[in-house]
Amino acid sequence: MSSVGVSVKRKDAVEKVTGKARFVADYKLPNMAYAYTIRSPKPHILIKKIDFSKALKVKGVIKIITAKDVPGKNEVPLVYKDYPVFAEKECKFEGQPIGLVVAEDLDSARKAASLIEIDYKELPAVFDSLEAMKKNSPRIYGKDNIYKKFKIKKGDLKKGRAEADIIVEDTFTTNYQVHTYLETNGALADPQPDGSMIVYGTMQCPFYVLDAVSYTLGMPKSKVTIIQTTTGGGFGGKEDVPSIISSHAAIAAYVVKRPVKIIYSREEDFIAMSKRHPGWAKIKLGAKKNGKLTFAEIKYVIDGGAFATLSPIVLWRGTVHAAGPYEIPNVLINTYAVATNKVPCGAYRGFGQPQINFAQESLMDELAEKLNMSPLKIREINGLKKNSITATGHKLQEAGIKPVLKEVINKSGYIKKWKPVVNKKGKIRKGIGLSVTYYGVGLGAAGKHLSRTGAFVQVESDGSVRIAFGNTEMGQGAKTVLSQITAETLNAPYEVIQVEATDTSRVPDSGPTVASRTTFMSGNALMNACNPILLNLKKAASELLGCKIKDITAKNNRFYFKNKSVSYFKAVEFAHQKKFQMSFQGWYVAPEPTFDKNGLGTAYYSYTFSANVVEVSVNMETGEYKVEKIWAAHDIGKAINPQLSEGQIQGGALQGMGYAVMENLVINEGHMVNPNFTGYIIPTAKDIPVLNPIIVENKDKNGPYGARGLGEPPLIGIAPAVANAVYNAAGIRLKHNPLLPESLFNALNNKR
Ligand code: MTE
Ligand code: MOS
Repeated sequence: MSSVGVSVKRKDAVEKVTGKARFVADYKLPNMAYAYTIRSPKPHILIKKIDFSKALKVKGVIKIITAKDVPGKNEVPLVYKDYPVFAEKECKFEGQPIGLVVAEDLDSARKAASLIEIDYKELPAVFDSLEAMKKNSPRIYGKDNIYKKFKIKKGDLKKGRAEADIIVEDTFTTNYQVHTYLETNGALADPQPDGSMIVYGTMQCPFYVLDAVSYTLGMPKSKVTIIQTTTGGGFGGKEDVPSIISSHAAIAAYVVKRPVKIIYSREEDFIAMSKRHPGWAKIKLGAKKNGKLTFAEIKYVIDGGAFATLSPIVLWRGTVHAAGPYEIPNVLINTYAVATNKVPCGAYRGFGQPQINFAQESLMDELAEKLNMSPLKIREINGLKKNSITATGHKLQEAGIKPVLKEVINKSGYIKKWKPVVNKKGKIRKGIGLSVTYYGVGLGAAGKHLSRTGAFVQVESDGSVRIAFGNTEMGQGAKTVLSQITAETLNAPYEVIQVEATDTSRVPDSGPTVASRTTFMSGNALMNACNPILLNLKKAASELLGCKIKDITAKNNRFYFKNKSVSYFKAVEFAHQKKFQMSFQGWYVAPEPTFDKNGLGTAYYSYTFSANVVEVSVNMETGEYKVEKIWAAHDIGKAINPQLSEGQIQGGALQGMGYAVMENLVINEGHMVNPNFTGYIIPTAKDIPVLNPIIVENKDKNGPYGARGLGEPPLIGIAPAVANAVYNAAGIRLKHNPLLPESLFNALNNKR
């Protein structure tokens, strides 16, 4: 192949490296106004009165917008419709939007907002998800503060218990994670002379934004256009909230009849935008003496914050993967997404999996130790393989854990390096940790109604190609990878492919850009658009070469019949002269997964398997430790672009390392203590360990050129591998993520 499997240069490399890319903050329109958000000062309040008089006197203020100005419905349509565009009476978290100050410039808007006086009564609040589930806790959602619960029941738990020789049980917790994309959230709404509305913004899911803006404006979808601007990272954090900000900007623009821009400061972004859910998990595992698992019993709770946003589907993904990539005959999983008076949580790379994977992969190591077995051995014995039955009763088609495990073990030298912790001595001790994961690609059974994508391909008479698709580029390389798939399918050079901005008026609703689904879904849709064009190119070539269409072979940007050939460009030119159709829409519907009331079914159409090895060195006196090296193996079916794939693995592993060792958001009684990069520490260049990405390619039967999803898996298994490595070095099992050095220091002191 000439384009697929080649590390071609990124389509967006030059514009990004030279700083020419235009982010929404760079956009300026004539007569543009700015809006600043008025927010709840406390975690749970009843608004009695708001005095805007001083704010309205500030020079430059145009208008203050509140719930009563919303032309459509005052609800943001996400999974549920519980999140108001602007709070009317009650605010459920500190930072909840109450209104907007629209002004000639941002400074005036901010100044005016600071002069607004809100008279309120504080209501009882709840900040802990387990507390929130108790009978007499303050009610914030429904009868029981539970947004959603799921259950998986497979086999017979009693039987599994009876068969077990050894049972281990433990409770694990994980904190928030903040996306820390370089570009904060923002949107620009531009009302059109014909009464329609265009919104530009940084986002992952333009079609969600389209739903939201049309619903909150009360305007038909055909009159609303959403255009994604260059997006400086999303990581799941621009899946739900752009629906809120774009609605705000659009409502303001509609009311003041001028373009309105909203760009969040880093602090606003921290305080009000979605986060990774804190998690709580209690797991019990049983095994026979030979290491074979007999049962898993899991209770998993995620803290959704004040509104449901994406909690129900984040919980679903966590539920399906809770038992890990293992063959376990008897499984009971109960999971809950719970309301608290804190910032709403949404999607973050891994989507409910990293929390539970941390717990389950930590406990697997505890079990191995009880069985006097190495962490590798227990995973080899129980790991899912082809034709294994998953926790949801799905008979696996993929190659399972073995290929990635083998690669990661060989490349890291794990077998030589792993020694039981009891033998370790000295102040600085080395440790090595292992984790395995699997990841259902796409939206799965819970999101199957959204599992379709559209695309558009137009081959111009000079052979250049314009493509448009419904998924978005957010840094992961979608533009490049999808151009490679297009070029390969059309038999065209990669360089001629031009990617249009993702724009809801160009392609039909293609669902969200999440769940690592882009390569698979948009890749297939583009191939479906390219195939009839390729056929027309072959037809043109066959007429030029004087043969039948079926005798033409297409490769290396030429069309061949025996020893004669014509170039791609010649074929294109001739096809246009013959008036063949050279532009097509593509459409792809994913194979349909299932999930019944017992949580059994095929769940996902494809799984990516992964294995990670982490090496740490621990200072036994101070508790400080350093992640020295990471090896990460992922079976991604086919690397469309090997270099970008490695980049995804490295970036995801580093983000996972940040999650494990240092990122620590502090929310005290509903108040965020460190909403900035001074207090919330993320890895920098100095912290980067040696990152060894390992690509494994067992082709996917439905994926374009055999590819399956890769975007999220690299993050998921890092935290437990770090925890297992720290244990292997220091003999201390840390059960709360992040695994802070001060926790290790305290645990070491308690042990002494
Ligand atoms: N990589 C970069 N550089 N920037 C991002 O925002 N998001 C991640 C992952 N990799 C992200 C990224 C997340 S959360 C997802 S779901 C996938 O990319 C989405 O892209 P894909 O569908 O093309 O895999
Ligand atoms: Mo990714 S968390 O599915 O946007």
